[in-house]
Amino acid sequence: MTRDAAWTRFDLTAAEAAESRIADQFAADPARLDRMSVEAAGLYVDLSKQSWTRAAFDACLDLARACEVEGRRDALFAGEAVNLTEGRAVLHPALRAAPGADFKALGEPVSAEVDAVRAEMKAYADAVRSGAETGAAGKRFQAIVHVGIGGSDLGPRLVWDALRPLDPAIDLRFVANIDPRDMAEALTGLDPETTLVVVVSKTFTTQETLANAEAAKAWLAAALPADGLARHFIGVTAAPDKARAFGCGRTFAFRDWVGGRYSLWSAVSLSCAIALGWEAFEQMLAGAAAMDDHFVAAPLEKNAPVLMALAQVFNVDGLDRRARTVAPYAHALRRLPSFLQQLEMESNGKRVHRDGSPVTRQTCPVVFGEPGTNGQHAFFQQIHQGPQVVPAEFVIVARTHEDAPEAPLWSNALAQAQALMLGKSAEAAETEGLAQGLAAEEAKRLSTHRTFTGNRPSTAIVMERLTPRTLGALIALYEHKTFVEGVIWDINSFDQWGVELGKVLAKAILKDVQDGGPSADLDPSTAALMTRLMR
Ligand code: F6P
Repeated sequence: MTRDAAWTRFDLTAAEAAESRIADQFAADPARLDRMSVEAAGLYVDLSKQSWTRAAFDACLDLARACEVEGRRDALFAGEAVNLTEGRAVLHPALRAAPGADFKALGEPVSAEVDAVRAEMKAYADAVRSGAETGAAGKRFQAIVHVGIGGSDLGPRLVWDALRPLDPAIDLRFVANIDPRDMAEALTGLDPETTLVVVVSKTFTTQETLANAEAAKAWLAAALPADGLARHFIGVTAAPDKARAFGCGRTFAFRDWVGGRYSLWSAVSLSCAIALGWEAFEQMLAGAAAMDDHFVAAPLEKNAPVLMALAQVFNVDGLDRRARTVAPYAHALRRLPSFLQQLEMESNGKRVHRDGSPVTRQTCPVVFGEPGTNGQHAFFQQIHQGPQVVPAEFVIVARTHEDAPEAPLWSNALAQAQALMLGKSAEAAETEGLAQGLAAEEAKRLSTHRTFTGNRPSTAIVMERLTPRTLGALIALYEHKTFVEGVIWDINSFDQWGVELGKVLAKAILKDVQDGGPSADLDPSTAALMTRLMR
């Protein structure tokens, strides 16, 4: 089937699905749950509460075939120049492969280098944890300040919050914002003699990170002998020369075939590998590698990242649903929505196809979320009753904590998904009002307010426990899902030109401020704001 024919069929079945009710589809297709759920690398993904009918589901699979998802996936794993605006391979799977793998980036073997950096990281992480590697004063490191932003921050932050012990031996803090308050908060209570600063920047040119790194260096320098600073100041980067020139005593490298938002499998997570221990980091890599294996081997109709991507494309392009909410029902996964915002919106928030022609369909929706149950008491009202349908994604952990009952937590996730799908009719709302003792007229009047249309889609992703392994699998699932969406939309998921203009203008504006005020060519609004802020 050609791509055009597949899209035509997709649109047709989407229009039919829009007229049907999700709840009715289980009777129409008794195999629906089996058909639309999948086990992958320790995760169970249930897409049967999505809006697609059986015909629409099949049309989505045909679309994936017509867009050559399998061929494009194989090109990614083969290290071809998938990032075609920058002429780069995209090889984050190489970073989590078992030692001795044989990945090549644009034909150049990379696995030996990956293994070597991993060995350096392990040796360093073990030495810091054991106390063999100390600060300049000979004291054990008790805290790490991780400095980085975007992809050099969000992944490690997610990992740390997800896996950290309640009372960690090494206190890991993160600083991303150029607002000095962020650094001030992170440094409060820390002793420079027992603090390691890890500066993470792929380019080592990012304004925020360099400013924060300067501040951290000054903080260390005020308390440590000049020749001892290097032991406390580490760089993780694809530009080690720049990091050394900046004063980093030691550097851990990764390559340009790792996108920032896909980099947490590299030395970018050095701080986590130290603070959580090497075993946890290695298990996380193994979980991600298991998801890679699944993505490569499973047929499209049982391929978790592919099915999740198709559900998103179906919602966005088939049913014009331009937002998606992600609700992790585990406090430890509270950073997942912000991580996914960068992963998905920076990857797929694009307006041109790979050949540069304008897209003719929607691409990435707005992704937002909060951990359950907190989101229920904030924006879920809109998800249940707002006129705009917002597909929901429930990430459910069966056992979040060793000693506490978790059923109240995950019961809420199931209840939300059920309420979204089933809704409540006006008649049921009226009967309920009467049963609560309302007068007949009042019960009728309130019934419209108490009605839920239902028929709102959701996905459930379930894991038994949140472990380094399942976390790795979960993140890799989202990475591959994002890639497949990019293939179907025919966009480059691996560049981020949209961020560049703001960076350039920020420099120009700061220069105006340093030069004493707005330049003549500045627009009136920006000029007035600058003048006001400079008062
Ligand atoms: O904000 C844009 C961006 O380029 C992200 O893609 C990246 O993750 C982030 O900045 C940080 O970049 P770097 O790691 O080079 O400091």
